[in-house]
Amino acid sequence: MPNPARAALIDRLPKAELHLHIEGSLEPELLFELAQRNGVSIPFANVEAVRAAYSFSNLQDFLDIYYQGMSVLLTEQDFYDLTWAYLTRAAADTVRHVEIFFDPQGHTARGVAFETVLDGIERALIDGEAQLRISYRIIMCFLRHLSEEDAFSTLDQAQPYLDRIHGVGLDSSEVGHPPAKFVRVFAKARELGLHVTAHAGEEGPPEYVYEALDLLQVERIDHGNRALEDHALVARIAGEGLTLTVCPLSNLKLCVIKDMADSPVKRMLDLGLKATINSDDPAYFGGYVGANFRAVAEALDLSEAEIITLAENSFTGSFLPVLDQARHLAEIAEASRG
Ligand code: ADE
Ligand code: ZN
Repeated sequence: MPNPARAALIDRLPKAELHLHIEGSLEPELLFELAQRNGVSIPFANVEAVRAAYSFSNLQDFLDIYYQGMSVLLTEQDFYDLTWAYLTRAAADTVRHVEIFFDPQGHTARGVAFETVLDGIERALIDGEAQLRISYRIIMCFLRHLSEEDAFSTLDQAQPYLDRIHGVGLDSSEVGHPPAKFVRVFAKARELGLHVTAHAGEEGPPEYVYEALDLLQVERIDHGNRALEDHALVARIAGEGLTLTVCPLSNLKLCVIKDMADSPVKRMLDLGLKATINSDDPAYFGGYVGANFRAVAEALDLSEAEIITLAENSFTGSFLPVLDQARHLAEIAEASRG
């Protein structure tokens, strides 16, 4: 049964989103608009046909469509429009801070300049901060199905812009591409003063989560579902107070879980893990951060206290300075009182 008081609490709580691939927020309507604007042909007759194609049985199924969708993004204005569209939806969900992933290799490989991508995304984020009061960080992800050499060359291309990029992440096809493959790239990124995070334990085994911690020295774990299979790992993540960026609707759409009732969010909280709720690729998975909160809260019958904890975790797990985190926590306390 939908619980209106719980839904109202979810609506009004300030939130941070820590796991959002900006390319995964490309809605079919904008995909069509950009395809027309840029004269790019796409293998779909209309928006309904695109939505109908969004049925996935695993991560790779999705990634194939996700990379194809990117082909319409060519100009600085395209990246601006994409990011602005996301921000207006985030604002409607009371999101106050976003840490956005982007996949430079998905664009530079098609001949789009690194700078074009960054400029468009950042210009929208600057406007979002001024007009929507959403602060931001930008995280550049390495595509793990590509080589270490390719990742190094991407880090080289990013060097002139490091004052505008806050961290690095690791995404794309997980199984067969363990964190160990990128140990040297991440060491270099850390040396350059960048924050580090990595997708681990979405489809990959607990060993990949250990590698992300031990070899990449990540500050957060993106997804982390399969960490729950290993008690010692759970104890370590809890002990170190590491944040997990869980993505409930993504998990369901990519068959990481069979049913929303199997979402690990409540188990994680019960085990003392700092879980957060995120949308991952909202245009493909059926909902933004508010929809993810509502879906998981209904399926797991989360208490108001648990929902508040999830919102708090989103700020304490962010890369914001502690003083800013404290300001957001005070706003959460205020909003929790109704
Ligand atoms: N790229 C975009 N979304 C992703 C996900 N959920 N896992 C891995 N790579 C991704
Ligand atoms: Zn992701």
